[in-house]
Amino acid sequence: MKKEKGFFITLEGGEGTGKSTQVAALAAFLEDKGLDVVVTREPGGTPEGEAIRNLFTQRTDDMEWSPMAECLLMFAARSMHIEKTIKPAMNAGKVVICDRFTDSTRAYQGYGHGLDLSDIEIIRDISIQSFAPDLTFILDMPVEIGLARAKGRLADDGTGEDRFENMALDFHNRMRDGFLDIASKHRERCVVVNAGRDIDEISKELRDVAAERLGIA
Ligand SMILES: Nc1ncnc2c1ncn2[C@@H]1O[C@H](COP(=O)(O)OP(=O)(O)O)[C@@H](O)[C@H]1O
Ligand SMILES: [Mg+2]
Repeated sequence: MKKEKGFFITLEGGEGTGKSTQVAALAAFLEDKGLDVVVTREPGGTPEGEAIRNLFTQRTDDMEWSPMAECLLMFAARSMHIEKTIKPAMNAGKVVICDRFTDSTRAYQGYGHGLDLSDIEIIRDISIQSFAPDLTFILDMPVEIGLARAKGRLADDGTGEDRFENMALDFHNRMRDGFLDIASKHRERCVVVNAGRDIDEISKELRDVAAERLGIA
């Protein structure tokens, strides 16, 4: 493991690429290895962050958040998440695994909705400074397949969190390209994973990379 305490892993990618599935599998593996693991998600991870998440999932037809307002809300939730949940866990030497993080704001509000990427970085700088994951898995696959998977999941769990799923296909393609662009700009941190394979194959790749980075291989 690196010298600083704790380790912060994020999973990123479009709808239905398997983030939640793989977060659970990776957490189980690392716990099995005897590590203390905290699983969290964005937006969310604190009561305040979950309240902000509800703003997005329980919106009414007459609400239309601007990309800038969305970005500010995401970083508001994220700043609390880091201070109240992520940093304390890391300071206690734990591995934190988070389902979506800053790269999702870049991909959705930036590449997807056209918010100026440099404006996003200014807001990031003000709200969370240089805080970033140690390792990010970007789950990548054709958006049509991911959206179909996500729809199947929605039919199963009926949580109604279908706002993002209902957006146009080209928006999702811009996001996918955005995630790949982010990965190319942060090669040390980001690992692009082919998410169009069997769940177990993907889990194995994540396990192997995480174990190597954590020095437990
Ligand atoms: N590699 C995979 N192959 C086939 N189906 C998958 C795979 N990974 C996840 N799924 C299924 O696709 C749906 C969406 O997966 P989920 O992990 O919720 O994605 P995300 O959190 O990225 O939206 C779920 O029903 C899940 O069981
Ligand atoms: Mg999910």
